[in-house]
Amino acid sequence: MARTLKPFITERRLQARVRALGRTIRADYAGRDLVLVGILKGSFIFMADLARAIRLPLTCDFMRVSSYGSGTASSGKIRMEFDLSHPVKGKDVLLVEDIVDTGWTLNHVLNELLKKKPASLKLAALLHKPARTRVDVPIDYLGFTIPDRFVVGYGLDFDGRYRNLPHVAVLNA
Ligand code: IMP
Ligand code: MG
Repeated sequence: MARTLKPFITERRLQARVRALGRTIRADYAGRDLVLVGILKGSFIFMADLARAIRLPLTCDFMRVSSYGSGTASSGKIRMEFDLSHPVKGKDVLLVEDIVDTGWTLNHVLNELLKKKPASLKLAALLHKPARTRVDVPIDYLGFTIPDRFVVGYGLDFDGRYRNLPHVAVLNA
C-alpha cells in the first residue's frame, strides 16, 4: 500500500504554540544561565523556533542519541552517539526533544545529564504520546498531546524523510 500523509497539526498552530512556550520559558528563566540542549536529529526544527521564541540570553548545545532503526517501533536500546560540547555544571539546562513516546530515550538522556551536575534540568517536548508510555518522564513544557499515531514533519522523520514538512502529518505506511 502506498504511504499517505494526512495533515495533523498545521504550521500556524505549531508556530502559535511554540511562541507561547517561549513566553512561558522566558518568564521562568529570566536572570538565569539557560542552556538549551537539543536531541538530534528530531528536535532541530522545534529547537530553532523555540530558541528564537525565548527572548533571553541563552546558549545552545546538542546531543545525539539513537533508539530506532529504520522502523516505527522503539527498540528500547539507546546509544549515545555524541555528547555536549561544553560542560553544563551549574547551568540551567532545558532539554529539547521532538516527541516523548515510550519515554526510554528521555529517561536515559535525563539520567546522563544529571551526572553532569546542572543547577537545574527541565524538559521541553513538542509532542507527547501518553498511550505508549513505558517510563514516566515529567514534561515541563509541552506543545501537544497526541494519540498513538506515527507522525512526521517539523523535525520528525520516517526513515530519515519528511523532517522538512512545515506541519505535522500522520503517516500511514
Ligand atoms: P521513545 O524513546 O520511545 O520515547 O522514543 C523517542 C524517539 O522516537 C523520538 O525522539 C523520535 O525520534 C522517535 N519517535 C517516536 N514516535 C515517533 C513518531 O510518531 N514519529 C517520528 N518519530 C517518532
Ligand atoms: Mg528523536
